[in-house]
Amino acid sequence: MDGNGRWAQQRALPRTSGHSAAEATVIDVIEAARSAGVEWLSLYAFSTENWRRPDEEIDFLMRLVRRVVRKHALLLHARGIRCRLLGAEDPRIPAPLARDFADLMTLTEANRGMTLTVAFDHGGRQDIVAAARSLIRAGVPADAVDQACFAAHLPVPDTPDVDLVIRTSGEQRISNFMLWQVAYAEWIFPPVLWPDFRAPHLLECLHEYRRRDRRFGGVAPQAKG
Ligand code: IPE
Ligand code: MG
Repeated sequence: MDGNGRWAQQRALPRTSGHSAAEATVIDVIEAARSAGVEWLSLYAFSTENWRRPDEEIDFLMRLVRRVVRKHALLLHARGIRCRLLGAEDPRIPAPLARDFADLMTLTEANRGMTLTVAFDHGGRQDIVAAARSLIRAGVPADAVDQACFAAHLPVPDTPDVDLVIRTSGEQRISNFMLWQVAYAEWIFPPVLWPDFRAPHLLECLHEYRRRDRRFGGVAPQAKG
């Protein structure tokens, strides 16, 4: 979800107004993805590198995310959405926010309508290190480590491989996002800034995705769902 700062800058507003404006996009995209039959949606909300931002901006984001979680928890639940968190649980995350995340996960854990993964305090490399640590702690012999075994030690290990990554605002970078899971992802970089991104933009991306020929390193074109 990129481009909040530039959206605000274009309007001569503080960066934080861009983050506030992002809330409407988040809700629109969740609803649109669910209606389109997307089973797994992940939103990259805050990276392990975002801690480098000014304290006031971090503070604002923490408060905003908490407000959004509290405000929309019942709606997400009513829509049958299972919410999960993919992140490091850094001690700098305010305790009330961590509690609200935990409550949202508990409230929605039995839902199967769509799984919404909120990547918050997330870093792909950090997840890979976590998997390595977990393997070592479990005493898994080196020769027993294969890709499936390694993936089973990643945080939230039942998360499937990513099919499509949409990064708004025209930036063309991975920025440490779910590095293990994006190995064969398709990428779309719409120029639109995240606060301006709406359901029709998402549907356009899904349409473009369906036109892609995913060969996974092979040669024969294969059917896509
Ligand atoms: C994305 O918008 C929001 C977060 C990373 C929290 P940015 O804040 O990165 O917006 P730009 O890139 O400065 O426009
Ligand atoms: Mg950015």
